[in-house]
Amino acid sequence: MSKERLHADLSALGQEHLLAFWESLGGDERRSLIAQIERIDFAMISRLHAERERRSDALELLSRAEPPPAIRLDGLTAAEKIAARRRGDEAIRAGRVGAVLVAGGQGTRLGFDRPKGMYPIGPLSGKTLFQLHVEKLVAAARRHGARIPLYLMTSPATHEATSEFFAEHERFGLPAEDLLIFCQGTMPAVDAESGRILLEDRGRIALGPDGHGGMSAALLAGGALDDMRRRGIEHLFYFQVDNPLVEICSPEMIGHHLAADSELTTQVVAKQDPLERVGNVVLVDGRLRVIEYSDLPDEAARRRNPDGALRFWAGSIAVHVIAAELLRRTADSAEALPFHVARKAVPHVDHISGRRIEPDAPNAVKFERFIFDFMPQARNAIVVEVDRRRAFAPLKNASGAEQDTPEMVREQMAALYRDWLRRAGAEVGEKATVEISPLFALDAEELADKLPPDTRIVEPTYFRSDCGPHRR
Ligand code: UTP
Repeated sequence: MSKERLHADLSALGQEHLLAFWESLGGDERRSLIAQIERIDFAMISRLHAERERRSDALELLSRAEPPPAIRLDGLTAAEKIAARRRGDEAIRAGRVGAVLVAGGQGTRLGFDRPKGMYPIGPLSGKTLFQLHVEKLVAAARRHGARIPLYLMTSPATHEATSEFFAEHERFGLPAEDLLIFCQGTMPAVDAESGRILLEDRGRIALGPDGHGGMSAALLAGGALDDMRRRGIEHLFYFQVDNPLVEICSPEMIGHHLAADSELTTQVVAKQDPLERVGNVVLVDGRLRVIEYSDLPDEAARRRNPDGALRFWAGSIAVHVIAAELLRRTADSAEALPFHVARKAVPHVDHISGRRIEPDAPNAVKFERFIFDFMPQARNAIVVEVDRRRAFAPLKNASGAEQDTPEMVREQMAALYRDWLRRAGAEVGEKATVEISPLFALDAEELADKLPPDTRIVEPTYFRSDCGPHRR
């Protein structure tokens, strides 16, 4: 396409500034810029920008919202828990379960210059989030004598570094045929006021990943849905890269999912505070939904049942079991998932002065799809409550922030391991730093089987692989 024609087309859309540096670009850069421009759905961007102030329909939903059908922590007998676990174990053993890890986010709040999965988080081992996740998966597969494929979603921001990291470390023990890395799509960042698409560089459009909700379309495009069909995978355990406590492929959760004939089962924690900043899982017209904390008015958040418990108690932690059938059914319409608007500070090149701008306040809007917008399409969706101390420690922020910092995550990991050790009969110092490799024990029960009697821990101790405790 000629420059004149492109300029005319872009002018009609109010986006001709994308060519502001055309004269200074080389041939390859020009071709690349044209290719980037051709991939943009300008009509959609313009509509999304025009609707950026639109209030969500949360208030309307709220008028019909009820607490969701839930398996509560204290609502089951030991026998029921064992039955659920057996059922989940069977499905894993039969090779019907896979895992999907979404790791395409830019991790801006953490301020780490590589993909978040490469962050060293092990309190003593310094293992990265990726390594811990994969070792859990490898240990779960070993325990069940099964193959559990990992579908790993990256984005253009994380793809190369992630792929190289996995190759360099021989996939941390995961067989090559059990790892499929696929890349999600992108959306341009737009100047909040004018709606102009931002230039990251003179010949490069500012693109960001299209949100974890981009997973469905990317699973299809990346061949993962076909792979699942070929292998007979019927359910996917979905988790996010930032939570090292997640019990990957939890048999109990999978068991509840199967017993309820659910197409989407989601883990929640009981909110500690009515205004806690987590999504609220609710039931509207018989369908599960998430109402974001920012959309839930304080008055509604504070509502209580006659027994004093919070009415909207279920806080989402973004761990799901999703039926492959639901993914297949919705893959074609994945494009129909709504976009959410996020205001962000996006560095860019000013198209008039050519100067690089590093804003310290939000200047732009970004558009992202969220995974939980699938929920209303799922049949028989249920929630399963977990204990946050044992299941949820997201790494979101850099050291010094009020919550979700590396120090806090490490301490929560050590606290969990101390708890496992005590339950296994060990004597453990109040604040002892301990770490248990997933390859040594995946849970408190396995630890109890392996721990020598009269174990006493007073100094930092790392239980790695099968060789027992190592003092540090
Ligand atoms: P967050 O919403 O916490 O975003 O992602 P983030 O990118 O990690 O961090 P900030 O907001 O920039 O600080 C939750 C999970 O969803 C994944 C992330 O990798 C993380 O596992 N994610 C997020 C994607 O895979 N793709 C996206 O487009 C966004």
